Formats: sequence, structure tokens, C-alpha cells
Amino acid sequence: MKIYRYLLFIPLVLTFIIAAGQDNDLPGDLLSAEFHQERREKLREKLPENSVAVFFASPVRNRANDVDYVYHQDPDFYYFTGYREPHAVLLIFKEKQQSPTGEEYHEIIFVQPRDEFAEMWTGRRLGDQGVANVLKIQHAFNHTEFARYDIDFSKFDKVLFYDFLDDVRNTRHTDLYDLIAQFKEKVGYPSVTSPSLQVEPMPQNIDLSELHYLMSQLRGIKTDDEINLLRKAVNISAIGQIEVMKAMRPGMSEREIQGIHEFVFKKYGSEYEGYPSIVGAGHNGCILHYIDNYKPEISNKELILMDLGAEYRGYTADVTRTIPVSGKFSKEQKLIYDLVYEAQERAIQAARPGTSFAEIYQITRDVIDKGLVELGIIENITIPHKYYPHGCTHHIGLDVHDNGEYGLLEENMVITIEPGIYIPEGSPCDKKWWSIAVRIEDDLLITKKGHELLSAMAPRKSEDVEEMMKQPSPLDAFVLPDLDNK
Ligand code: GLY
Ligand code: MN
Ligand code: MN
Repeated sequence: MKIYRYLLFIPLVLTFIIAAGQDNDLPGDLLSAEFHQERREKLREKLPENSVAVFFASPVRNRANDVDYVYHQDPDFYYFTGYREPHAVLLIFKEKQQSPTGEEYHEIIFVQPRDEFAEMWTGRRLGDQGVANVLKIQHAFNHTEFARYDIDFSKFDKVLFYDFLDDVRNTRHTDLYDLIAQFKEKVGYPSVTSPSLQVEPMPQNIDLSELHYLMSQLRGIKTDDEINLLRKAVNISAIGQIEVMKAMRPGMSEREIQGIHEFVFKKYGSEYEGYPSIVGAGHNGCILHYIDNYKPEISNKELILMDLGAEYRGYTADVTRTIPVSGKFSKEQKLIYDLVYEAQERAIQAARPGTSFAEIYQITRDVIDKGLVELGIIENITIPHKYYPHGCTHHIGLDVHDNGEYGLLEENMVITIEPGIYIPEGSPCDKKWWSIAVRIEDDLLITKKGHELLSAMAPRKSEDVEEMMKQPSPLDAFVLPDLDNK
């Protein structure tokens, strides 16, 4: 009988564990509440007079049946709140507002409520009080309050938000779907918006474009706190590349190589990869965003292109190395590799405040086109070709292709430089070049006078890559049972 007495206490103990353990297991180097608060202030400064900006949390994505994909917060929402849960909406007002009870506020958040049963299954929730105490957003409510919270959107000259994609699931609970529906009703968003079918006009004070512009101004220039996290994400990713260079052996699978990188990320406390890892051997390297990584055995004649970035406390690196499986570049592989290296090196040297993104690209384009002519791969530089089919530079941050302006480089931008040459089978050139694919991608912090190469730790020159590949790997001793010969 005694056991029943203890069972009665279980809900109590559970509540205590959930409440007490709210923060204890969280990493100590997450961005502070003050960071997010200051970012909200910065947006407020930029907002037009008599306006409000509205942000929604990312939707939960279903994987299959009752299993969802790992949740990842919307980067803008995270930037302004530090909130890492779904089903929430944030409003940032230019001017102070007054609540029906007379309180003043200039930002307000509605979040998913605490729920003992749900928290037992899917993890702790902050709830309205946790958001007020931990994230220090004082005007915090449970999202069940949003529908009846009285906000007259028609009084604002501008209501800024990103247009909806209608790709959010409606569950049996109050969720993001309901918050969006309630918001649409409050602002008078038309029920049919297809250009050919539109039956109601969009209210004149709705602005669906300015927010992109304001956010790129803010997020494109990193604060010191953000730079610290990016530095860590990039270092982790560079060390991952080094460990793979040491561990690479013919016969490994692409997936196994991906696993080594990701193990190194996680060993350093990275939450996820910043984007699906790209590990392409031989002709797979010619697929720019190849994420299948299913080749079972890589051959010592191949190059392997590895584009991998750890996400650390929300911030993602983006580092690519291309290495010879055998540990030594063939003659043709080295010629292409060194050409990409030269293009990248010249662009890196030009990276400083005032250089334009377009100039960086053009430097790499010119080096590559001229080199391809010298190698006899194209006849002359005026002939259009598909061997360098992508851009060369983008911001990194909370997104791998981060929000930011693409005019001139400025101090405290963090960018990649990533030229590449890809020669698929069947290309109109000598067969000896086929299936060679090289991308070299590094991450740079733009400083007052120039730049800092954040990913410098991972060898980049062909000779340095070969040297690193001669080093022993601790994974040589990691031998697992052969399942086919038990
Ligand atoms: N990893 C994606 C890119 O390099 O842009
Ligand atoms: Mn990139
Ligand atoms: Mn990349």
C-alpha cells in the first residue's frame, strides 16, 4: 500500500523538478537577456513613426506521425528574444502603448503556457512568468490571451511583418496557426491574397517589405557577443575539417566522414549543423548542395568536397575544404585546386571596409576564367561556361545565408569567401578534368582596416592539406565489429 502514498507525490516532485531545473542545464554562454533587449531597442530606433513590427516564432515541422523535426527558432525571433520555443508572437512598438489597465509598454510577447503534462513529454517551457524573469520581457502573456488582447492595429501608420506562407499546421491545441489567424483578423489581412483572385484590398498601413530592409541593417553588422559565438562556431568547424583530414581513408563512406565532423561539433557543445552537411566524393562534388551523402565507399582517385558548419548557440559557421582521398592531389586535381586557391586568396586580400561584394566576386571570376583558359578547359574568357556557377560571398550569423546588406563591406560584418570550380562528367573539355570539383570556403570578420580570417586553423594551401593528411588520427584505433562476418 505504501507505494500509493509515494505515487501521490509524483506530480508534486515533477512540478518541483521542472520549476527548479528551468535554467540549470542550459549552457552558460547563451546570449544574455541584455543582448536581446538592446537589439529590440536598436530596431525601435529604426522603426518609422507610429509603427509596430510583428514577429512570429518558427512553426513546428512534422517528420512523420507523432515525430516532429528538431525545433529551430526563427532567427529574427531569437535575435530579439532568446526564446527557443514555438507558438509565440512578439510585437515591438515604436512608441509607448498603454494597456487597458493603464500600464505602459513598448513591446509585448505571447508565448506557449506552462503545461505539466506537455513538459513531461517534450521539455521545459518558460511560460509567461519565465519569459518575464529569464528573458526580461516584462509584458509577457500566455498565447491563449492573444485573441482577446485589445490592440487596435488600425491606429498605426505602419504595421510591419513578413508575409505569410500558409505552411503552418493546425493542431488540436492553441498554436501558431491560431496566432496567425487571430493576427490576420486583427489587422484586416485579406482572406484571399492570390494576385489573380484577390477579393479584399490589403489595408494601407500593412507593410510587408520594409522589415527585410531594417533587419538586414541590424543583423548584417555583428556585435562583440555575436562575433565571439561566430568565432567559436568557425573554430569548431575548422577543427572538424582537421580531424577529417587526419582520419580520411579510401573505402570510408561519405556518411562516415559527415559523422566525424559532426562528432567534433558536438564534442565542443554545438547544438546542430548550421545547414545540412555536404560531403561529396568525385562527381558528387559537382552537385552544389549535395546532402544525400550516400556514397558507400570513396575511392583514392577522388577528391572529396566537404562543406560543413557547426551551429553554436544559434550562430553558424560555413567552411568548405576539398581534399584528395589518397592524401595526395593528382596533377589535374592540384591544377584546379591551386586555381581556386589563388582566386580565393586574391579575394581575401581585397576584403576590407569599402570593398564591394561585387568586387570580391569579380576578382574570383577573373582569376578562374583566366586560369580555365590557360588550362585549355575553355577557349577564351568571353565564352560563357558553367564551371563556376555560384556567387562567392554571403553573410553568416544566425542563418548560414544571413540577413545583411550586399553593397560595401563594413567593419564587423562576418562573411564567407567561397570560389569553386566544378567539372561534371560530359563537360565540353578533355576527359581528364571530369568529376573534379573544388570549393574552398573560409569565414572572415571585416575589421577596421582589413579582415581577420576566422577559419585560418584549417589548412587551405594544397601542400598544407597534404601535410595535415599525413598526421595520424585517433580514429585509426576506433574499430567496430564487422556485421557481415559475425
Ligand atoms: N553551405 C552553403 C554555402 O556555402 O553557401
Ligand atoms: Mn557559403
Ligand atoms: Mn558552405
